[in-house]
Parts: sequence; structure tokens; C-alpha cells
Amino acid sequence: MIKGRTLQLRALEKADLTFLHRLHNNYKTMNYFFEEPFETLRELEDLYEKYVHNTTERRFVIEETQTGASVGVLSLIEIDEINRRCEIDIIIDEKHQGKGFGKQGFVLGIKYAFDILNLFKVYLVILPDNTPGLSIYRFAGFKKECRLKKEYFRNGEYVDVERMCLFESQWRRIKPKLNEIVGFESPELRGRIPPRASQPVVHRVAVAPVLPGTAPVTESSGALALK
Ligand SMILES: CC(C)(COP(=O)(O)OP(=O)(O)OC[C@H]1O[C@@H](n2cnc3c(N)ncnc32)[C@H](O)[C@@H]1OP(=O)(O)O)[C@@H](O)C(=O)NCCC(=O)NCCS
Repeated sequence: MIKGRTLQLRALEKADLTFLHRLHNNYKTMNYFFEEPFETLRELEDLYEKYVHNTTERRFVIEETQTGASVGVLSLIEIDEINRRCEIDIIIDEKHQGKGFGKQGFVLGIKYAFDILNLFKVYLVILPDNTPGLSIYRFAGFKKECRLKKEYFRNGEYVDVERMCLFESQWRRIKPKLNEIVGFESPELRGRIPPRASQPVVHRVAVAPVLPGTAPVTESSGALALK
């Protein structure tokens, strides 16, 4: 599990399959997902059993931290341990779209890939007309890698898609900015009580023993540090 201020990602359980079944049978959603909007619950249950021990993927439910309500799903798939990369995809339930959940859930997903799985590169493919998707991925620092010509068959025709990616070094640079918005390292999530602005934290620094012939360490020489 990985937590942000508003959302958290937790492992997809068998009990979540009815939720997934609804998402996978939504025509509009699947139209952006390059898949047929047709999947029986029985098929999903069989797939769940088949892949439950598969280490090349991590499937998560995106849920609200406060209420535990499921708002979408996020997957890290094709996890390649040698080349240290994976593909990422996300779906937000139609009734929860446009509330910022896509952006926040996606950032938690890339954090999981880089900070927990220790991957080097995360990539995805997207239709050039998927405006909300593009907005999220650019916000998270993803850059266009290449265009794949007539890669998928959609609405009766073959369409181009763009492949985008983020490298671990780029993640390190953008992480503080993303943390401000998603709050995955906020003090309350670490179980710490944040200090009040009027009470500066005093860090005590170990004082080296005074050796003969050296000046003693005083407060102004660094024995106490205010942050
Ligand atoms: C793409 C998707 C995950 C976005 O989730 P979301 O929760 O609606 O996105 P957010 O609320 O975080 O909004 C992200 C951005 O998209 C914009 N947006 C959201 N819905 C939009 C819409 N219908 N039309 C245009 N822009 C929209 C938001 O204004 C926001 O823009 P900003 O960065 O300028 O603020 C969601 O639409 C979805 O599940 N789509 C179907 C599956 C899919 O396309 N998955 C990605 C495949 S690559």
C-alpha cells in the first residue's frame, strides 16, 4: 500500500472484481484503453487466479484515504527486472472523473514504481486526443518518446498512439513538486506530529569531546541547530 493525502493505492483483491468488471465494460473508458468493452466476471475471476502470483505486474485499487471508497484502478505491468522498466496504466471510474483523482493516483503509481520497485524507466502509450490523460502525464514529467503508427484498431480504423516515458533521474527532480500536491511524504502519513510554526524544532547535535589543545564546541559553533 502507498498513501497520499487524499488517495491511496492498495493491492487489488478478489472482492474488487465486481468494481473492475464495471470499469472494463464501460465503452467510453475502454475506447481510450485499446481494449474491447467486453469481459465477464467469470473471466476476470479466472484471470485473477491465474495471475495472482505473477511478479511481472502489480494491480492496485485507487481509493479515497478517508472513506476507503474505490475511485479507480492503476496497474504496473510488464515489469522487467533486468531492464528495470514497466508500463503503467490508469482508469478512474466515470463518476469520479474530473476531481483530480487521476492526477494524484497516477503520481502514487509512479512513486511506487521508482521508490519501491526501484525501476529505471516507466512508460505508457496514449491516444493523442486523450486530453485528460496527456495533461496528467505531462504534469507528472512524462515526455513523448515516439509515435507508433497505426498501432491500434479503434472505432473502425487504425490509429496512431504516442509512447511517453519518465526516467528515474527525472522522477527524483520532479518528486518534491509532486509531493507538495499529492502529499505522499506529509508528516501525518508518517505518524509524526507536524511542529507548530511558533515552536521551532531544536535538533541536538552530538558534541565531540574536547581534546587537549582544541577549542571547546560552543552553541554558535554548531552544537545546536535550529530548523
Ligand atoms: C484519463 C483519466 C484517468 C483522467 O482521470 P481524471 O480523474 O478525470 O483526471 P483529473 O481530474 O486528475 O484531471 C486531469 C486533467 O484532465 C482534465 N480533464 C479531466 N476531465 C476532462 C475532460 N472530460 N475533458 C478535458 N479535460 C479533462 C482536468 O481538467 C485536468 O487538467 P489540468 O491538468 O489542466 O488541471 C480518466 O479520464 C480515465 O480513466 N479515462 C479513461 C481511461 C483512460 O483514458 N486511461 C488512460 C489511458 S492512457
